[in-house]
Amino acid sequence: MIVLMTNAVGPVGEALGEREPFGPMKKLDHDQLVAEQQRQLVQPRRDYSRSAKLLFATMDLVYGKTRTLEKFRVIEVVARVPYMAWESVAYIAMTHTSKRPDFARRVYDRAMVARFEQDNEQWHLLILEELTSQKRRHWLRNRVIPQVLAVAYYQLSWMMFVVNPKWSYRLNADFEDHAAHEYAHLVEENPQWEDEAFVSKFEADYGSYDNLADMFRQIGYDEVIHREESELMMTQPRYR
Ligand SMILES: [Fe+2]
Ligand SMILES: [Fe+2]
Repeated sequence: MIVLMTNAVGPVGEALGEREPFGPMKKLDHDQLVAEQQRQLVQPRRDYSRSAKLLFATMDLVYGKTRTLEKFRVIEVVARVPYMAWESVAYIAMTHTSKRPDFARRVYDRAMVARFEQDNEQWHLLILEELTSQKRRHWLRNRVIPQVLAVAYYQLSWMMFVVNPKWSYRLNADFEDHAAHEYAHLVEENPQWEDEAFVSKFEADYGSYDNLADMFRQIGYDEVIHREESELMMTQPRYR
């Protein structure tokens, strides 16, 4: 059941409450999560595009090369925006294709997939926000710059998707591949998480895990699924 935390629950909220929450893309058990993490650790990275390399270099420059939770929080601030851009373009496309309902229905599928991916990234962000909430945040480095990065990345994703969707899918596949590898290394670098419980306000939404390590492995696996989806879409980028 979806747990609504807002103070104002109307009839839509009540109806929503009867649905299952959409948390991880595909929930794995402990052994599967460990196997997926190991697979990521040995899998070569994608051949990243220049725009992806520029983004990763900017993040390393501003937040350092060390894998900190704060850096992952910033990754998650940026991670959602291509899906927002694709959803926005899909809705515009549907408006202009209302005379071809079959086509519009297929475009709707793309919008729906993008929305689920966006929601999934949102849980990642909220969990990272929660885990870093005690840390002091610098207003420029930790508040303004992530927002600026996200806005610029949104504009880039939107423009690429309109001009040639394959470019936008490729950039996202690179971003997700980078995230999947980084999470695999993050878990490897923090063995103490194997004995640390995952206690969160978002457990009802994102699921329960044996420990913090498995929760991060699940996020890493979500990133793998996002990458695979974008890689597939690179082969059929246009709405048909
Ligand atoms: Fe994510
Ligand atoms: Fe992601």
